[in-house]
Amino acid sequence: MTARKEIRFILNDHDITLQTVGACDTLLDYLRLERHLTGTKEGCAEGDCGACTILVGRMTGGALRYEAVNACIRFLASLDGCHVVTVEHLSGADGTLHPVQQAMVDCHGSQCGFCTPGFVMALYALWMQNPDPSEDEIETALQGNLCRCTGYAPIIRAARAMAATGNPAKDFLIRERENITTRLAGLTDGKRVEVEKDGDRAILPADVDDLAQVLVQNPEATIIAGATDVGLWVTKLLRSITPAVFIGHLDGLRQIDVSDSHITIGAGVSYTDAESPLTGAYPHLEEYWRRIAGWQVRNMGTVGGNIANGSPIGDAPPVLIALGAEITLRLGQAERRVRLEDYFIDYGKQDRAPGEFVEAIHIPLMAPDSLHAAYKISKRRDEDISSVAAGFNVTVVDGQITAATIAFGGMAAIPKCAAQAEAALVGQPFDQAAFIAAGAALAQDFTPLSDWRASADYRMKAAQNLFRRFYLEMSESDQPVRLAQA
Ligand SMILES: Cc1cc2nc3c(=O)[nH]c(=O)nc-3n(C[C@H](O)[C@H](O)[C@H](O)COP(=O)(O)OP(=O)(O)OC[C@H]3O[C@@H](n4cnc5c(N)ncnc54)[C@H](O)[C@@H]3O)c2cc1C
Ligand code: FES
Ligand code: FES
Repeated sequence: MTARKEIRFILNDHDITLQTVGACDTLLDYLRLERHLTGTKEGCAEGDCGACTILVGRMTGGALRYEAVNACIRFLASLDGCHVVTVEHLSGADGTLHPVQQAMVDCHGSQCGFCTPGFVMALYALWMQNPDPSEDEIETALQGNLCRCTGYAPIIRAARAMAATGNPAKDFLIRERENITTRLAGLTDGKRVEVEKDGDRAILPADVDDLAQVLVQNPEATIIAGATDVGLWVTKLLRSITPAVFIGHLDGLRQIDVSDSHITIGAGVSYTDAESPLTGAYPHLEEYWRRIAGWQVRNMGTVGGNIANGSPIGDAPPVLIALGAEITLRLGQAERRVRLEDYFIDYGKQDRAPGEFVEAIHIPLMAPDSLHAAYKISKRRDEDISSVAAGFNVTVVDGQITAATIAFGGMAAIPKCAAQAEAALVGQPFDQAAFIAAGAALAQDFTPLSDWRASADYRMKAAQNLFRRFYLEMSESDQPVRLAQA
């Protein structure tokens, strides 16, 4: 296949074509250092603070959709065929502020101003989705933005006030949607894209079959989906990732299929896109899912990336293992299906051969007699990595526990089922004593580590207490299991 040797995208209102792009080049560096668009700030360079928030628009399901993302960990090469919108594009040519900016001014939402462009862009993304958002939607949209001056209350007031300050129909991105859609269509040609700078190579396969071929030819390549892990390897660890194979643009990996027995999620589906189908089928994941990272990272990060990276503290694996998930791995034309739990072999070691990639995740629908819960324990509610995460799946028939799959993250070198605790439950009556005994058996399953997130004792105690909590929540007890959120 002949490859195109340039990437093409729209930046605000300019068509951009770049021939010399390295795999490691970030959008933030490009904006600030090459385009001098310095409204986009660098606070942390690791996706945590939101100061670099910009919008990326791309064709999704036949429609142009804009999402807030972190420019600091978004690689430039991945923007082929996209529309990048920075804060400079918001105000009118005559300097009139955008309604979102005006609301920030009116509500005194800015002090030193460093975080302000990032907040404005996150609120802008929200305003485009819903010009009159609920409190819950405002909190979700601002999960990924930090401010060290305002105490957040004026920013939240600005978010509430946005509805009164302007008419979305007059907004540039909404008015120009058709024009941008036509221009984006003109940029794409269905070809593989290969660009490089000083030997730092980036490849964007044309489709999933092409991806399989590229990886067979380059088995040592770094696969990049949302880059919310890999981005930090570059910005924090200064690692080389060449050759890098980008997969986030591949529609064939972004499909979600629902059958009578399973939900199948393509490995390139983002947390945001997975949220509605997953929480519809597995309501216990609703709160848990929104506690994964923050809004911008969920717009970029994929479920496949969370599995493939093999981290012991990834949030998706424990709850998906508890649901009995399997994954499809593909090497060239050969596909194989493995239980998700079996994919994790040891710390840093997964059942994946060089050149092989995760293609899809298959999650069985819940059995009628089964009880489910998902728990995340972290220092902060939002935008924090788990100290302990757990998925519970317990089947009760006529008051007896007949099956239990209980998986933990943060308790071992890999996400893993608690075999002894499960065995302690099966065959027992569904009562509190059984769950306290199962919690005690957990000490035979795991010897957790102490680190900066939690001590080993804390992890064990917290995990054991989750057994009691699960029982109390499921038994419709009137005991308070958790405080209602203020
Ligand atoms: C600020 C911040 C907060 C975060 N909070 C959380 C959190 O709360 N919970 C949590 O679990 N994680 C969190 N993360 C980590 C990260 O967002 C997740 O692990 C995410 O799911 C990674 O997906 P990705 O698509 O970005 O992966 P990438 O960074 O693109 O890739 C991650 C790894 O998977 C490999 N890979 C990706 N896709 C495939 C594939 N299809 N086949 C084979 N290999 C593949 C890559 O080569 C790489 O090794 C956070 C990250 C940041 C920056
Ligand atoms: S600079 Fe902090 S999230 Fe990008
Ligand atoms: S206004 Fe100063 S960091 Fe937010």
